[in-house]
Amino acid sequence: MIAGFKIQGEEHLGRIMTKVITYGTFDLFHEGHYRLLQRAKALGDYLIVGVTTEAYDKARGKLNVVDSLMTRIENVKKAGFADEVIIEEELGQKINDIKKFQIDIFTVGSDWAGSFDYLMDYCKVVYLERTKNISSTMLREKNSCIQRIGIIGTGRIAQRFIPEARLVSGVSTQGVYNPHITSARRFADKWEINAYTDLEEFYSAVDVVYIASPHETHYEYIRSALNHGKHVLCEKPMVLKKAQAEELFELAREKKKVLFEGIKTAYCPGFHKLLGVAGSGTVGMIRNVEACFTKLEQENSRELTAPVYGGSFLELGSYVMLPILKLFGKDFEEIRFDTIKGENGLDLFTKASLCYPTGVATATCGLGVKSEGRLLIAGTKGYIVAEAPWWKTSYFEVHYENPGEVDKYSERFLGDGLRYEISDFLSMINGNSSSEFKLTRGESVALAGVMERFMEEREG
Ligand code: CTP
Repeated sequence: MIAGFKIQGEEHLGRIMTKVITYGTFDLFHEGHYRLLQRAKALGDYLIVGVTTEAYDKARGKLNVVDSLMTRIENVKKAGFADEVIIEEELGQKINDIKKFQIDIFTVGSDWAGSFDYLMDYCKVVYLERTKNISSTMLREKNSCIQRIGIIGTGRIAQRFIPEARLVSGVSTQGVYNPHITSARRFADKWEINAYTDLEEFYSAVDVVYIASPHETHYEYIRSALNHGKHVLCEKPMVLKKAQAEELFELAREKKKVLFEGIKTAYCPGFHKLLGVAGSGTVGMIRNVEACFTKLEQENSRELTAPVYGGSFLELGSYVMLPILKLFGKDFEEIRFDTIKGENGLDLFTKASLCYPTGVATATCGLGVKSEGRLLIAGTKGYIVAEAPWWKTSYFEVHYENPGEVDKYSERFLGDGLRYEISDFLSMINGNSSSEFKLTRGESVALAGVMERFMEEREG
C-alpha cells in the first residue's frame, strides 16, 4: 500500500492525500509536457513539480536549453496541474525531496524507464508513457536551423573540436579547409566530413566557421569569413593586435554576424561559479590575482619552434590573463613582462605583472618550465584557490584567516570543455545574447592589446 498523510484540517474526515512528484526541464513547453503533468496529477491529490536550474542542466550536459528558469516555471504553473513548484539544483536531490515532502509516487516519462528504480525504496515509481513525436530537442532544432560548421585548420585543437561539437544540438560539422590537400584529406577521412582546399568552395558549403589555424593566420581568415557572411568562432589568441581586434568586431557588427573568441575557460560552469564567488564579496576586496599555467612540450613542437608566433605567452597567455581581466578589468595602469627565452628567441617562461588602482596581478605561463599551475585570488577577508587544471575549473576552495575554516565548491567539467563555448556561440547566433558577458568584445580587444605589448617588448 502506498504511504500517505492526512490533509491538514481534514484529519477528522480521515482522508489520506497522495503526494506525487515529477521533475523536468520543461523547455519550450509542449504538448508532451502538458500530458505528462496532467497524468502525474491524476495519480494522486497533490502534485509537486521540480524544474531544473540552468546550472544543473549544464552540469548534466543539457547545453541548449532556450527558456530561462523563470519562463519554464511560469509555463509549468500555467498548465494548471502543479500544486507546488520547486527547483531541482543538483544530483541526489530527488531522494531528499521525496523524504522531505513525504512523497508517495515519483513519476517521469517512459524515456527514463528503469533510471529511477532506485527510488522504489522510498516511494512508488511510475513511468508514464511518453507522448510520441514531440520533444524540446525537436522544437529547438525546428526553431533554429542546423548550423553547418566548417573548420579552418587541422591541428590538435581541431581534432578535439569535432567530438565536442557532436554533443551540442543544432550544429553539424560539414567540412574542413586546409590549403594542403594531404592534411585536409587525412583529417576529413578520420572524421567523415568533406575536405576543401578552395576557400570559396568551403565558404559556400558552411554557415559558421571555426578557426583553429596558426595564430598569425587568424586575422585574414576572420576577415574573409565575415566578408563571406559567416559567423566566426576563433581559437585564442584571436588576433595579436588591438587595432585588428577592434576592426574585426566592427566588421562583424556591420555584417550582423557573431565573432566569438574561443577561450574555453571563459565558458566553463566552474569558472563562472568561481567568478561569482569572487565578485560576491566573500573574500572582501580583491587585492591580488595570480594565475599560472605551464606545460612541458617536446623541444621540436610547433609551440616551441614556430618562428615569431610560438612561445609560452602566445600559447597560454590568454588563459592566465582571463581571470585578471575578469576580476580587475581592462584598465591596468602598468604591465611588465619578464621572460626566459630559448635559443631561438621564443619565450619558455613568461611572467606578466600588472598594476591596477586597487590591486596587483601576475599572469605566469611556461612551455619549457614546470610550475604548480594555480589560480589564487587574494582579498581583504580571505582567498580563493583553484589548483591545476583551474583552466578547466571543476573545484576550488575559499580560505579565511582561521585555517580551519574552508568553503569548498565543485562543478562538473565535461570532456574537453569545448562544448560549453560551442553551445554559447550557437545561442548567440540564435539571437540569445545572455552569454555575451562571459567574454566581452572589450575583453577580447584588451587581450589582443596585451599580446601586442608582449610581442613588441619581446622584439625590442
Ligand atoms: N515528456 C513526455 N513526452 C514528451 C516529452 C517529454 O512525456 N514527448 C516528459 C519527460 O519524460 C519528462 C517530462 O516530460 O518526464 C519533462 O521532460 P523534458 O526532459 O523537460 O522534455 P523533453 O522534451 O524530453 O526535453 P529534451 O528534448 O530536451 O530531452
